[in-house]
Amino acid sequence: MVEVTELLRARPPEGPFPEFDVERVPPTPGELFLRWLECAVRAGVRVPQAMTLSTADSRGRPSSRMMLLRDLDVAGAGWVFATSSASRKGRELALNPWAALSSYWAEQARQVRVSGRVEAAPTEVSAQEFRRRAEGGRLSALTGQQSAPLSGLGEFDAAAERARALLERHPEAVAPHYTRYTLRAEEVEFWQGDAGWRHVRLRYALSGGRWERQLLWP
Ligand SMILES: Cc1cc2nc3c(=O)[nH]c(=O)nc-3n(C[C@H](O)[C@H](O)[C@H](O)COP(=O)(O)O)c2cc1C
Repeated sequence: MVEVTELLRARPPEGPFPEFDVERVPPTPGELFLRWLECAVRAGVRVPQAMTLSTADSRGRPSSRMMLLRDLDVAGAGWVFATSSASRKGRELALNPWAALSSYWAEQARQVRVSGRVEAAPTEVSAQEFRRRAEGGRLSALTGQQSAPLSGLGEFDAAAERARALLERHPEAVAPHYTRYTLRAEEVEFWQGDAGWRHVRLRYALSGGRWERQLLWP
């Protein structure tokens, strides 16, 4: 029998991890995020664009799931993702546009937390993005209504067949609820882990249209 506490016992961070010189950071969080993302990509981190998205329902009850970062508006501090507006997260965002994202790159011991308001792109912008997606992604989005109850995998397979046939006949077809969303950051926190536990946290917060920086206790 596996001892859970033994399994979970914290192992010392391996390191060495990158230095985080907080005196030499760019003025905006978008620029710093891009630097860290490039570093993760160059280091061969698997799925470096994966991030959690947290939303909350009308009563403030939160839910989180993994998403892929599709784009970054560096100057406008916009983190872009795409999903179905009819999914659970889509419905929650329609009621409450405040959301949070977190990225984690284990190899560099780096975490980034982003929070702000989410805006949906106009239908035609989302449709153009959908048509640029790889066939697998389009098929999956055309298959059914994300987050709705599914009676069995047979129902999914039949819907996937119908979606494939639809795409063959109409290659320009767009999933009706497919939406490109942009989270406009108001707060972005960068966390750099350290093998000696001297972790460094730096928060950028928007104040009167300007980004202010603040160190935080780890
Ligand atoms: C690494 C990873 C990336 C994912 N990326 C997306 C994505 O970009 N868009 C999406 O709709 N779902 C994505 N998913 C699936 C979501 O985590 C989730 O299961 C789905 O969107 C339904 O969430 P909801 O019911 O809370 O709306 C991803 C899952 C994983 C594990």
